[in-house]
Amino acid sequence: MKCLLAPSILSFDLTDLKQSVVTLAENGAKVIHLDVMDGQFVPPITFGDSYVKALRPAVNSVFEAHLMVETPERQFEPFAKAGCSRIIFHVEATSHSHRLAQTLKSMGIEAGIAINPGTPVEAIEPVLDIVDIVLVMTVNPGWGGQSFLSGMLEKTARIRAMRPDVMIEVDGGIDPTTLPIARAAGANLFVVGSHLARAKSLAEATREMVTLCG
Ligand code: DX5
Ligand code: ZN
Repeated sequence: MKCLLAPSILSFDLTDLKQSVVTLAENGAKVIHLDVMDGQFVPPITFGDSYVKALRPAVNSVFEAHLMVETPERQFEPFAKAGCSRIIFHVEATSHSHRLAQTLKSMGIEAGIAINPGTPVEAIEPVLDIVDIVLVMTVNPGWGGQSFLSGMLEKTARIRAMRPDVMIEVDGGIDPTTLPIARAAGANLFVVGSHLARAKSLAEATREMVTLCG
């Protein structure tokens, strides 16, 4: 399965985001990961659909929205209209994950289900056959710069065994050390935030991580 880098803009300089996204795309990022937080599902608030819409013309990369919000279905239409072709919502944020995944599919949007470190795999098992992507949180959601939780490797491997063809994204604490380990466990999409934001040269660090994805 193809392995791809999905840089998260969460920890970047918000006043220079357009240039950062262009640099990411120019250096091989085919996916841009957009962390949407509502101050309810997680304490911080980030940005909404209008922000994404403003960024959209800058690059051709796939925009994926990672909705860390309550009532995620309210955001499907706005983020789809803003140019996200993939929308990921949390299983913990709804009692109707199956219906919500169906809704996204019927809109022609790739459907993703995200699962927190404290949630067992069984919670997403019923939707595994309809989603395009499973996002395994490898830190607790809400903040960039946390340490990778290695206990999530087993969860990743279990999901890979259950559905060999689903995209599995790992999100949180991914760097040159943890990426290969997560990949070996079965992940094929890698969110990288603070490792890139901290880099002296964003272009160089992006190329390095893209190369690691192979
Ligand atoms: C955390 C977000 C992640 C995060 C990743 O809630 O979903 O996308 O920004 O950042 P790093 O790579 O710093 O863990
Ligand atoms: Zn994320």
